Amino acid sequence: MRKVLLAMSTSTFLREQATQRAFVRKSVSAFMPGETVEEALAAAATLKPQRINTILTRLGEGVTRLDEAEKVTQHYLDTLDKVKAAGLDAQISVKPTQLGHDLDAVQAQRNLDRICEKAERLGNVPVWIDMENSPYVDPTIKMFRTSRERYKGVGLAMQAYLYRTAKDLEALIPLGPAIRIVKGAYLEPPEIAYPNKSDVDQNFYTLCTRMLADDALKAGSLLHIATHDIALADRLGAFIDERKIPTSAYEYAMLFGIQRSQQQRLAQSGKRTRVLISYGEYWYPWYMRRLAERPANVTFVLKNLFGG
Ligand code: FDA
Repeated sequence: MRKVLLAMSTSTFLREQATQRAFVRKSVSAFMPGETVEEALAAAATLKPQRINTILTRLGEGVTRLDEAEKVTQHYLDTLDKVKAAGLDAQISVKPTQLGHDLDAVQAQRNLDRICEKAERLGNVPVWIDMENSPYVDPTIKMFRTSRERYKGVGLAMQAYLYRTAKDLEALIPLGPAIRIVKGAYLEPPEIAYPNKSDVDQNFYTLCTRMLADDALKAGSLLHIATHDIALADRLGAFIDERKIPTSAYEYAMLFGIQRSQQQRLAQSGKRTRVLISYGEYWYPWYMRRLAERPANVTFVLKNLFGG
């Protein structure tokens, strides 16, 4: 099921079909407060009293024209102003292919640096870089390193399903980096990614504990534990309590609309908690990845389809 849904996520034909169907749009709203940044900011404002901070990301990957990449960059620059005006603690998360990486890697780097520069000036850091599918891992790490030489406030998502991530992370630890550990959302072959979920879960735990080791903490690292897996989050919570890791060293991160009670439980217990809010018109591939994460979500869509 996961493989089929992930393969479907790259189909242009299905994207066009899905975006026209009201029942699909309705089920997308479970994970996305709206298509505009204003709707995302309004959702962030409702989470604030619950002591849940946010990360904003505009959907859309693989832009095909440099002027689109410029529009996306400008959008994020404006969003930083809007976040400040709204008095929210809402960071920004970007995708390299959204900033034009496929068209002009130098320009994409420049775009990222412009966002980092402004975020740093406004004190809204880190700017997160999402990790896309495996061909982008090397270029994304390169972009992160280049920006990190200029701006301290930049963070990187790293995927526990890839065999290579342990080594990649090890090389970054001396920088004292901001790293978001995720399981990984794309369809990757067993030659490069753990095919078994239990191995991915174990690697997630190992990577997170590596980020919380003494040398990483001393270097100034920040870990985002980005999962909805309650057992895994609790296992890491026990490690953190046992080692008396300072709360400044880590945050829990989850996606809007997923495991809301866990989000509230963590925030109420005083744990720093962030919710990533996605918005935008180009939601189809992202939505399919969310369906692939949980077959029950497909049942929900089918019920809407046949239930009227
Ligand atoms: P897992 O898939 O094991 O799910 C644990 C439990 O959580 C499930 O049993 C279910 O109850 C619930 N759950 C999980 N997903 C759900 C869903 N879609 N709907 C309903 N319930 C769900 N990936 C990537 O490749 N690059 C990236 O940059 C990012 N960035 C990112 C940021 C943040 C803040 C998060 C939380 C996640 C990402 N991801 C990502 C996605 C990540 O790789 C992964 O696909 C999802 O988080 C699902 O995996 P879990 O860790 O939640 O565990």
